[in-house]
Amino acid sequence: MPNLLHLDSSADLGASRSRAITAAFAAAWRSLGDDHTVTRRDLHADPLPHLADAALHWPPRLRPAGASPDSAAEALQQELIAELVASDVVLVGAPLYNYTVPSTLKAWIDNVHLPSVTAPLDGDDQQPMAGRPAVVVTSRGGAYDAGTPTAGWDHAVPVLQQVLGGALGMAVEVITTDLTLSELLAMPAEAREKSERELASALTAAGDAARRLG
Ligand SMILES: Cc1cc2nc3c(=O)[nH]c(=O)nc-3n(C[C@H](O)[C@H](O)[C@H](O)COP(=O)(O)O)c2cc1C
Repeated sequence: MPNLLHLDSSADLGASRSRAITAAFAAAWRSLGDDHTVTRRDLHADPLPHLADAALHWPPRLRPAGASPDSAAEALQQELIAELVASDVVLVGAPLYNYTVPSTLKAWIDNVHLPSVTAPLDGDDQQPMAGRPAVVVTSRGGAYDAGTPTAGWDHAVPVLQQVLGGALGMAVEVITTDLTLSELLAMPAEAREKSERELASALTAAGDAARRLG
């Protein structure tokens, strides 16, 4: 039973592009058959607490002497890790907020990235998500193409590539929709057209990716 973990983090429940694109992916995934299940976690509508205790970054054997993190926080963390490890594909809606990921998504990352549990430490082989696909859907108000003055200002996608790809060993794909604020900010027609084109191709790419990975 291929299972998709579908995360969203946009604070826009009305017109979010990342939500529209992840929804297109999830719909295409479900259309592959009843055996294609989806575990949904809306990190904005149902936010996780910030990591309660630095000790929770480590499994018990690596925690500092005397550490005793809150048991409810630890139980929630275990639930989140189990949910992650039970997924075959992870889909992450990740709008760009202040040049990085939304804090709601960062709270999830802080809970699931544990050295020697979900990521290897000192050469151990603790990397249960290794090789599994992660599809990151980034939506950004501006444009961050190479060669533009804002190239390199996006610190969201690199973090997700580093944590999901580098640390957890997943095969990360990125679907991008840029210039999402072009209408609101009355950018030139060229920017608005590019934005619409990118949205259309992102929606198509999402469906294609779901069918390819499912
Ligand atoms: C709190 C906040 C911070 C934002 N910061 C940025 C930013 O740093 N750079 C940018 O290009 N757009 C920024 N935006 C615009 C969003 O990236 C844009 O609206 C995007 O489409 C949001 O994703 P969504 O459509 O899935 O909600 C910000 C929006 C919000 C609400």
